Amino acid sequence: MRPGLVFVLVCLSVFLLEFAECQKDANTKSKKQNAGGKVKLTNKKPKSKPKVKKVAAKKLARISIMTQLLQQGRFQKPSDTLVIAAGENLLLRCKGKHISWAYPSYLDEENDDGRFSKMTADSGINHRGRFSQLTVANSTGADTGEYSCWALDCDAETCRRDDSKTGSTYVFFTDPRELFVPANDYYMAIQLRTDRPTRLPCQVTNPLAKVSLHREYPPELIPEDGKLITFDVKKGFVIHKALPLFGGTLYCVASYQGLRQSSTKYLLIFTYYPSARPAATIEASSSSVHAGVNFNLTCTVLGETNIDVDFTWEFPGQQLGRPTYTVESQQSVYAGGQAVQSSQSVLLVDEARPIDDGLYTCTAQNQQGATSVSTRVNVLPRTGPGRQ
Ligand SMILES: *[C@@H]1O[C@H](CO)[C@@H](O)[C@H](O)[C@H]1NC(C)=O
Ligand SMILES: *[C@@H]1O[C@H](CO)[C@@H](O)[C@H](O)[C@H]1NC(C)=O
Repeated sequence: MRPGLVFVLVCLSVFLLEFAECQKDANTKSKKQNAGGKVKLTNKKPKSKPKVKKVAAKKLARISIMTQLLQQGRFQKPSDTLVIAAGENLLLRCKGKHISWAYPSYLDEENDDGRFSKMTADSGINHRGRFSQLTVANSTGADTGEYSCWALDCDAETCRRDDSKTGSTYVFFTDPRELFVPANDYYMAIQLRTDRPTRLPCQVTNPLAKVSLHREYPPELIPEDGKLITFDVKKGFVIHKALPLFGGTLYCVASYQGLRQSSTKYLLIFTYYPSARPAATIEASSSSVHAGVNFNLTCTVLGETNIDVDFTWEFPGQQLGRPTYTVESQQSVYAGGQAVQSSQSVLLVDEARPIDDGLYTCTAQNQQGATSVSTRVNVLPRTGPGRQ
């Protein structure tokens, strides 16, 4: 009845369980969870050994709890994909006392279009004791997307997700005038990161529409090759390997029965992104120096090319304002037959003093995180004048 009753669970143990299952069951359905209220979890499940889990997962039969109301008033398990003409109603039910739902987030938006946010509308979630019902009345192409539900196991205080009882279907609401699911923005900036695939949503309202990917300038078709670039009618285009040549403004074109439309424009910004934190090493020119002698420390990171590394230093004389200098450099080197980037910071200490004695720490940082390495330098008493 009220959208406020929708339980949205975000809890760690559920994620863990889900993750473990997901690896076993390729058919696991959407993991979409709306961000929202948190439910406190007092009863954390103890970690079980993977072996035990495997057996448990095999026994755990997945029960589909979702049904769809058909025209004759019958309820039937929905197929993975439903195609419904825009304007018609969708009614899904999920069996269970406590049910949580996920659906296109746009339905919750607090504007005229977000029909789930208004209590008066015919659309929304309705909990009715032994089942929960989701209704999308007077549908539009914008309602296209994944609809899923899952049962919750609740005690007096908390609820947890029961992954054996779920249901999910992807619904296309075909709109003869709108081949693309309307987007909020005319232009969307997306980072084309070197460390992961990039997705251009290009969501269509009709699974039969032919969709292609295009560059704005110079105008050209970017072919879907099934490897570097793939298309899935539910996910859109995925660029699996970020290359600088894919940067720029791209858009999708959908065509169906003589209608041809362009999607939102995607501004792809090519970004080198490290795949891991930097691995740093530190070396002192000498681990013990006599007072008055110059010494230095070298912090080195061998890593991916084109990744900037920031160095910071902590050292004994720092608080006392001991003047020191750093010299930073970057160069390409070959390691293991591969070009890698060597980034270095050298901390120079002139004329060692007793306050320079102690621990020197270098912290190397990139976008994935930081690592610190330390080494100790002993400052020995000044040598006699006879030395020089
Ligand atoms: C929604 O659909 C119902 C019939 O199912 C119709 O009576 C009503 O006018 C429609 N509302 C809008 C806003 O189109
Ligand atoms: C660091 O110290 C060593 C040994 O004194 C010296 O050979 C080297 O040139 C120094 N490095 C820099 C960058 O000054």
